[in-house]
Amino acid sequence: MKILGIETSCDETAAAIVENGTNILSNVVVSQIDIHQAYGGVVPEIAARSHIEAILPVINQALEEAGLTMKDIDSIAVTHTPGLLGSLLIGTLTARTLAILHQKPLYPIHHLKSHIYANWLEAKLQPTFPLIALVISGGHTQLIYMHHHNDFKIIGTTRDDAVGEVFDKIAKILGLPYPGGPSIASAATHGDPHKYQLPHPKVDNLDFSFSGLKTAVLRTIQKELNLPISTPSHALAEKLKPQQVNDFAASFQNTAIDILVEKLQASVEIYNPASICLAGGVAANHLLREKIASMFENHNQNSKSEFISVSNFELKKGPEGKNVFFPRVALATDNAAMVASAAYFSLKSDQKPTDPYNLDISPRSQIS
Ligand code: KG4
Ligand code: ZN
Repeated sequence: MKILGIETSCDETAAAIVENGTNILSNVVVSQIDIHQAYGGVVPEIAARSHIEAILPVINQALEEAGLTMKDIDSIAVTHTPGLLGSLLIGTLTARTLAILHQKPLYPIHHLKSHIYANWLEAKLQPTFPLIALVISGGHTQLIYMHHHNDFKIIGTTRDDAVGEVFDKIAKILGLPYPGGPSIASAATHGDPHKYQLPHPKVDNLDFSFSGLKTAVLRTIQKELNLPISTPSHALAEKLKPQQVNDFAASFQNTAIDILVEKLQASVEIYNPASICLAGGVAANHLLREKIASMFENHNQNSKSEFISVSNFELKKGPEGKNVFFPRVALATDNAAMVASAAYFSLKSDQKPTDPYNLDISPRSQIS
């Protein structure tokens, strides 16, 4: 079964064709990063306008690269929630029009669900249930428990900022370009991760909190520069030396990643899942991948976890059903192949197609 996936929830215009939920026939992503970089973040109106220009050429390219026409497509899947209102509208209106025009079943997909299903793409070994997904993106930070396909229970969520959003905000304070995740990761390679001591939030269940860490970085920079706490955050970058920027990037990244890894470890102790799946743009972070892989590989006798890390692309020796999955970096950040994969496993679990004349969007909604 060949599904055309369409994704326009934020600042990437993407279309992909995926066969049977795993086999990528084409995967086209046009990023607007260059356009938004000048503003230090995504400008919603500009994002929507750029999607209008890119969406049809991107879909045509996805068909061309797969050597297919709309006649060969079995179903269409589109991200309809959550995301930027204007951006979501362009993708869904295009998908609805194509579904009506070509008489194809249409599947609306939740963005976080699609991030989780990136772990099934190109998979030599598929995640087994029950699983825990750590979903970490620019808008979300959640631990999600899945007992089977299409079944999602949120077991932990951020009480304030999403971790990707904090990477983006700290990068801005440090004068590093948008998006902050890759910029911080790159600056951190030249910095000392233990130079500045930053706090871990005191949250005793599986929830996250990142606003305290953000404020702590700000206060530590002001202190380092001998400036009062009233100094605005935008005035700090020009006063920092390059080595200080690198040390702050490394110390912040190390703390943020440790917070994620500790909560993931705690959730594994409680739920004892068969698989762990990393999902969302922040899952592209190499330090996170290294720390999670080594934490679960170094089997701790006091712990119940016996996981072996598995990149779907360099399969290691993992025992059946006890694995940590990382999507390839390009599949961790926003793309449409994951949308098509999520739709395949939804329809296999009996999700019915939606009425293309009535599909609505929703900028905010929980996975369900
Ligand atoms: O999933 P995604 O592409 O879009 C959303 O759904 O939000 O995630 C984007 C987020 C941004 O906050 C970006 O800074 C972060 O993912 N990100 C990273 C890395 N690459 C992207 N964060 C940390 N390390 C990275 N290497
Ligand atoms: Zn995303």
